[in-house]
Amino acid sequence: MIQKSGRASVTELANHERHGAQEHHHRGKSSESRLDKARILQALGLMPGQTVLDAGCGNGYMAKEFAARVGQEGKVFALDPDEVAIAALSEQTAGTNIVTVVGDITAPTVLPAATFDLIYVSNVVHGFSTEQLEGFKAELQRLLAPDGKLAIVEIVKRDTPFGPPLELRFSPEELQQALALAGLTTLDVGEGFYLQIFANHPST
Ligand SMILES: C[S@@+](CC[C@H](N)C(=O)[O-])C[C@H]1O[C@@H](n2cnc3c(N)ncnc32)[C@H](O)[C@@H]1O
Repeated sequence: MIQKSGRASVTELANHERHGAQEHHHRGKSSESRLDKARILQALGLMPGQTVLDAGCGNGYMAKEFAARVGQEGKVFALDPDEVAIAALSEQTAGTNIVTVVGDITAPTVLPAATFDLIYVSNVVHGFSTEQLEGFKAELQRLLAPDGKLAIVEIVKRDTPFGPPLELRFSPEELQQALALAGLTTLDVGEGFYLQIFANHPST
């Protein structure tokens, strides 16, 4: 496990997001039971030998799926500010091709630049403040390989029996605008969820 020192504030941030009057709690939540994993994995089309980042990995259920697909020649970095979740995942995946990292994807991380064939971010972005979104964009630009892809799973921007307040949610169009990256594919990946895949070049 890669541990970032002196980052207690990062964990606090993840546990207690604040958006003006809005508060949004992330800790301990997993979308696993609500998402169509097979559809997501098919759309991502991972290949043996690739390098993947699961940013905001939670309990790491997708990182494990990615690891099986990239194989021993590939590598999966599983990053989350939640030290408890990362410690548990680290114990479960010791000796595998998964590298666990305590970190914040909205700030410069310890991860290597221009390395990632895929950065996967599921049910995390709606928790970012405007300032965090800017930091996220900068770190994406640093980490993505030239031909790398970004995949974001988010909750649809309409009433659902679960999820954050509507004003915190992004539609696929709003995501594309906020990240200024070229959108490749948008698809439904479960009741109330979509996957948006981006190429690593600016939207036109
Ligand atoms: C709702 S959970 C989603 C977990 C998993 N990706 C999934 O889809 O089930 C949000 C996760 O994002 C993490 N998180 C929150 N802020 C983050 C940040 N700035 N950088 C990376 N991860 C963050 C939380 O700790 C939490 O594990």
